[in-house]
Formats: sequence, structure tokens, C-alpha cells
Amino acid sequence: QPDVMDKLVSLCKRRGFIFQSSEIYGGTGSVWDYGPLGVELKKNVKDRWWHAMVRMRDDIEGLDAAILMHPRVWEASGHVAGFVDPLVDCKTCRGRFRADKLEDARCLQKPSKRPGEAEQCQLTEPRQFNLMFKTFMGALEDSASVVYLRPETAQGIYVDYKLVLESTRQKIPFGIAQIGKAFRNEITPGNFIFRTREFEQMEMQFFVDPDGDHMQWFEYWKAERMRWHHALGLADARLHFHQHTAEELAHYARAAFDIQFDFGGTLGFQEIEGVHHRGDFDLTRHQEYSGKKLEYFDQPTNRRFVPYVIETSVGADRVTLATLVNAYREEEVPGEQEGRVVLGLLPAIAPIKAGVFPLVKKDGMPETAHRLADDLRRHFPVFYDDSGAIGRRYRRQDEVGTPFCLTIDGQTAEDGTVTVRDRDTLQQDRIAMDRVREVIGARLEA
Ligand code: GAP
Repeated sequence: QPDVMDKLVSLCKRRGFIFQSSEIYGGTGSVWDYGPLGVELKKNVKDRWWHAMVRMRDDIEGLDAAILMHPRVWEASGHVAGFVDPLVDCKTCRGRFRADKLEDARCLQKPSKRPGEAEQCQLTEPRQFNLMFKTFMGALEDSASVVYLRPETAQGIYVDYKLVLESTRQKIPFGIAQIGKAFRNEITPGNFIFRTREFEQMEMQFFVDPDGDHMQWFEYWKAERMRWHHALGLADARLHFHQHTAEELAHYARAAFDIQFDFGGTLGFQEIEGVHHRGDFDLTRHQEYSGKKLEYFDQPTNRRFVPYVIETSVGADRVTLATLVNAYREEEVPGEQEGRVVLGLLPAIAPIKAGVFPLVKKDGMPETAHRLADDLRRHFPVFYDDSGAIGRRYRRQDEVGTPFCLTIDGQTAEDGTVTVRDRDTLQQDRIAMDRVREVIGARLEA
């Protein structure tokens, strides 16, 4: 039995959600492209985050910092020295593995070879491998022109924090949020879009008074972010917190919790978001390396201090994958021989909101359906389909998560009504065509 992830990889390719990058050349390792439906789904997830984290709050500002930054940024942040994984090569299976994850070694997985028999695997000594992608800026390819593709978006926020503060006149506590690409030369990427080398992060850094209630803010953001995942439609039982142990804590973190989602199959519960108490690590280091003061002046108390930072960091791709895994279901349909595959996505993030179908290609039905589709298209994505039996058309929309299907039939010409079929309940209601936008619009806001 293929697990859900395998079925999703195939569905995502077949229906245009996600493709392997450069597939005609044999593919690029762990890099993926979002097709027509995937780009809509991921964009909806990102828009939801931006709406909750920036638009709905007056204490958080948005930012879109560049991917390429001054190379000293990554010395200050600790990434040049510390963003490393211990790497070993195996001469037997020619694989490359993290020394702390030897169970991934293929030759160790053969029944005769267990981790305790590592000598048969001919592993090299571990060496430190930096996960940052390097490139050169300008015409010269020498060490002075090395720049990095950012491995996290957070640093763009720290280096711009003073500029945002001054231009917006925000007062502490306040936050800066951004969505953008990040790159990591992962040694063991995989599991579809779960761990990739190019991905997108949605990060928010919240600046607080180090002598104030910073632990309360940490708890506040933990709860707030968990609420966001619930509101995205992820099942309660599939979400939980995981507290980082002292060994797991990143070099910058004082305390950290992951929000984990149960991907099922062999993956099980895995991190989709990190909520980190970063203390004053980053701003202090940037102050030291740049020579620029990054202190905040607190007028009411007449104090100067480097703020503490509470960070929320979620992967746009990883959470998109979670929505797909969470939504996928196969079910029997009462009274029908064939079952159906459904993506029970929250309507607000579904890539197509409504399918519009003329029952038959005659009697003016296609013209009416086109008119309705064109009208609705101005408000949300719709898909016009007049090919094949109506039942097949419904199934095609179920499989990509379209919450509503509208059918124009013989009665439409008589009384101006259409049927609205609900993806999940399969219930069909007749409503006036001129009320369709309002009715669906209300359901999309939920
Ligand atoms: N600024 C903090 C930071 O980057 P992280 O725990 O390394 O923290 C945060 O990453 C989130 O970014 C993760 O929870 C995950 O959702 C996403 N992420 C990290 N590495 C990833 C990768 N290789 N592929 C896809 N998503 C990744």
C-alpha cells in the first residue's frame, strides 16, 4: 500500500500542483516547482499568514529584504562558523550522511547490517559541512567576492530593524515580518517538499524589553501560532508542541518550541514551525560586527537597551505540504460504484473556489455558464468545464479540493437558478444565479 505521501506526489504532478524541477533533464535534487494549482495554494497560505501577522496588527510591520546580503552578516549571525552538519561518506553504498543520523545510511539498512555493525560500512571520519550556498558577487571569483544565499530570512530583519523602527515610529514591543526564499545545502533532503534545498520561510521577529515580560511574549506567540495552524484547518490531533532539549537548541536560542504536524507514514510528527526565544544574541552580534549601535531608547523609563527577540519561523512549503496531507482522503460515495479522492482543503486556501459546468453543450447552457464564470472570476478563481459526464467533472474538482461546483441546467433558463454542490457533504442546493457570489463569498471567509 503506497502511503499518502506517495499518492500525493503523483496527484500533485498529474493535476499541476508540484513538479520536480528541471524534470526533462532528469530533475534537480530536492528542488521543486509549483504548477498552476500549487502556486495558488501556496500563495493562499502565504497571504493568510501575511494577513494574520501584518495586516491585522498595528504592532507588526512588513519587510521584503534581499536574498544576497553583506557576507559579514553571516559571520555575525554565527552561520559561517556554526551552521554546519557533521558529514560522513560511505565507501560501500557511496552515500553521504549526517554523522548524527547514521540510520539513514543505505547499506546499514540491509538486514545483515545493523547500526552496531558500522565497520562493514566503511565510513569516513566525520567532517564539518557548512549548509550555506556560496556564490560570487561581481566579476572576480576570489575569496573577497564570496557572498551567500541566505539560509534564513531572519537576518534581513535584524540588519534593517533600526531603519524600520525609525521610519515607522513603532515602540517596543513590536515586530517585523517577512516572507522570502531561503537556501540550505541540506545533506539529506527529501520527503517531497518537506526538506528541500530551496524553500520559502515566513518569519516574524518580535522585539521586546529584556527587563520586561519577555517570557510572557514567548508564551503568547506559541499560543498564537498554534491557533493559526488550527485555523488553517490542520486537525487538532495532528498538531503538538515539541520543546527543544539543551542538545537541540540552535546556537542563538535560549528556549525553543517546535510546532509539529503528524505527516503520517514513516515521517510521523515533524516540525513545521519554530518559536524561538533568541535573547539579544543577533542584535548584539550585529552591533559588534557592524560597529553600529542597535540599541533602543525607551523614553518612558529613560533607558537604553538591546531588545530581546521572540521569533516565529514557519516554512511555507512545509505547511503547504501539511495542508495537502491533512486534506487528502479516499472515500466511498453512497450509491456509486467508484469511490472518490478528495482534497478537503479549507475553502479559503483551495486553489479553485468553484467549478462552473453547463449540464450539456446545448440550449444556451454553455453561454450562460461562461457568463457566470466570467462574473465570478473577478472575485475568486473559477474553472469552467464542459467536457465529459457531470459526475466525472465533479470528481476532477474533488481531487483538487474545489469546494463548490455550480451546474447550469434546463431549469436555469426557466427560473435563473443553478445548483451548488458542496464538496464535502455532496449536498446540492438550488440558488439564484445572482446570489452565487455572495453565498460562496461568505463560505470562503470562514
Ligand atoms: N530563523 C530560524 C530558522 O530558520 P529553522 O527551524 O531552521 O529556524 C524554520 O527553520 C522553519 O523553516 C522550519 O520549521 C521549516 O518549516 C522551514 N525549513 C527549514 N529548513 C527547511 C528545508 N530544508 N526545507 C523546507 N523547509 C525548511
